[in-house]
Amino acid sequence: MKKTILAAAFCAIFSGNAMADSHGSMVADARGVVKQFFGSLKGELEQGMKQGGPVTAISVCNVKAPMIAEETGEKTGWQVARTSLKLRNPDNKPDAWELTVLKEFETRKTAGEDVTKMEHSEVMTLDGKKTFRYMKAIPTAELCLNCHGSEIKPEVASSLDELYPEDKARGYKAGDIRGAFTLQKAL
Ligand code: HEC
Repeated sequence: MKKTILAAAFCAIFSGNAMADSHGSMVADARGVVKQFFGSLKGELEQGMKQGGPVTAISVCNVKAPMIAEETGEKTGWQVARTSLKLRNPDNKPDAWELTVLKEFETRKTAGEDVTKMEHSEVMTLDGKKTFRYMKAIPTAELCLNCHGSEIKPEVASSLDELYPEDKARGYKAGDIRGAFTLQKAL
């Protein structure tokens, strides 16, 4: 009897640790994917800005961002995207879970948490499949203000108006949460 209880307790502790470990390694994996995605995106953006200024660079975000997301997904096996509370492209609309996490990120920022390290992960059933989901806040840097700030050059603004008639992703300040990377993988 004693043995059984002990074994049960041991198993509970053991499997608890194993679960914590696999959760930890999924988070580490997700962080790596974000790094890869953000690195490619930022590289393309900076190159576009250098070559032709923000109007040229808009096409990087417009055309290349979704492509880079897809490529990163194919390479890593994760579904990768970006989302925000104030969208530029309606295709990036958050689902109910993402919306909750984005709102929580704002609350955590107000409470003084460092935006550059802000993340959230959870395991849930999605379309009948056990799925690991991960989100990481994207801080607004100076560079971003060219296209997401409150003093956008007229030629940039008119190009954005044309591509995104419902654009809400303006008026940001450096340090604000621009949105989040959102990743998922079926377990
Ligand atoms: C040259 C203009 C430009 C610059 C600079 C820029 N963006 Fe964007 N951003 C865009 C465009 C255009 C889109 C819409 C992309 C699409 O159609 O998916 C976008 C979309 C986004 C999205 C997806 C959510 C949404 O609103 O649709 C995030 C997040 C984002 N940008 C963050 C940033 C961050 C962070 C920076 C600075 C590191 C930045 N952007 C710099 C033009 C820009």
